[in-house]
Amino acid sequence: MYIKSEKSSNLNGEINVPGDKSISHRSLILASCAIGTSKINNLLESEDVFSTLYALKNLGVEIKKLDNTWLVYGLGLGSFSVVNPTLNLGNSGTGARLLMGVIAGCDLEATLIGDNSLSSRPMKRVIDPLIKTGAQIESNNDKLPIKIKGSKIPLPNNYISRLSSAQVKSAVLLAGLTSTGVTKYREPLLSRDHTERMLGIMGANIKTIQMPDKTWEITLKGLPKLKNVNFNIPNDPSSAAFPIVAGLIIPNSNLMIKNVLMSQLRTGLIKTLIEMGAKIKIINKNQMNGEEIANVIVKSSQLHGIEVPAERAPSMIDEYPILSIAASFARGKTIMNGVAELKYKETDRIKETIQNLNKLNIKANATNNKMIVQGVESDLIKGGIEIDSKLDHRIAMSFSCLGLKCEKPIIVRNAETINSSFPNFCRSMKKIGANINQHLEN
Ligand code: S3P
Repeated sequence: MYIKSEKSSNLNGEINVPGDKSISHRSLILASCAIGTSKINNLLESEDVFSTLYALKNLGVEIKKLDNTWLVYGLGLGSFSVVNPTLNLGNSGTGARLLMGVIAGCDLEATLIGDNSLSSRPMKRVIDPLIKTGAQIESNNDKLPIKIKGSKIPLPNNYISRLSSAQVKSAVLLAGLTSTGVTKYREPLLSRDHTERMLGIMGANIKTIQMPDKTWEITLKGLPKLKNVNFNIPNDPSSAAFPIVAGLIIPNSNLMIKNVLMSQLRTGLIKTLIEMGAKIKIINKNQMNGEEIANVIVKSSQLHGIEVPAERAPSMIDEYPILSIAASFARGKTIMNGVAELKYKETDRIKETIQNLNKLNIKANATNNKMIVQGVESDLIKGGIEIDSKLDHRIAMSFSCLGLKCEKPIIVRNAETINSSFPNFCRSMKKIGANINQHLEN
């Protein structure tokens, strides 16, 4: 499938974005570890989340949909059984890494496989800490396919990570659930904390403190009795990022996006855009499952370049490609610091973002840990090129948004990858006035 996106004059109205991807994965996994039936509403029904869902079914968990609610029949910690030992996680790094944590903590053996993108992503970051709990892991040079044999009683971990990665942190915590001791995990900057919040709601004894050296330590007491829960999943700020930026850069736009997750650990992009001069209003703040939500109002704005601090990276780690599109239409230079981790996402996002911008004659360059984008002086750019998603949904959607500001259309090839996080992207964008269409390849 390919997307053709073309010059659009204004974007207006309300746009629905789907449920949060991170919380969707976690609600299925944690509900599977609880005792009793959990109910999940607004689950993101995307390929990534279905990869986790099918993997859990292959581990013996019964999950089904009744009307609009997903029911997960949890049998308790350590109750998994192998129905099919090959778990295909498709494109999903979150699914693969979190499930490795679950398996490490159970008397199970399974092999994880994935698509070309996932099979080229680094897994040493989870292999190293999980081996410390007693799991046996065979990998293809620290990549998928990975065969993992968990231990019935995992050793309590005390792991100091040099990365601020919610996937690594969650894998360690999930393995720690079946340990008889206390698991400790430390990270330099606090990454998204959905696993910790959900475990707390489900009755686990879990605490986060900032250490004297400013790192963050999470402590989890093993063998909690996890109770079943009803989760309502807030809408995904990482998906909202696309209409937000499109609304800012297209003149005469006025958009509303409802019930967006407003966790401070996820909203670095909104903070950055406001610093760049974006007219964004956050209204109707509320709570949902221990997380803050709100409605976001966006109006077209003249942005200006800024320097984005490295410490903000974990709170906007998935948003740099679309921030680079906003930066392309800002006055002056935008400098994004602390972006080294982007190299290990669905593609090397530093390389793909910079190369694609350069193809469009937008001045952009990068070092190992920094991206710099020079805004164009004009309102529209020429366009008329093809972009290959290379199986990266966020690259596909970012450059589709850029096409709305081009004189000639942009074609995004291999665009079906957007189904991993935002299945109705084109339809939703069209509804607010975007000139964007998806087509089947001949
Ligand atoms: C995620 C964490 C982030 C993010 C990914 C989802 C999660 O990765 O990039 O899309 O749900 O835990 P890292 O925390 O590993 O950087």
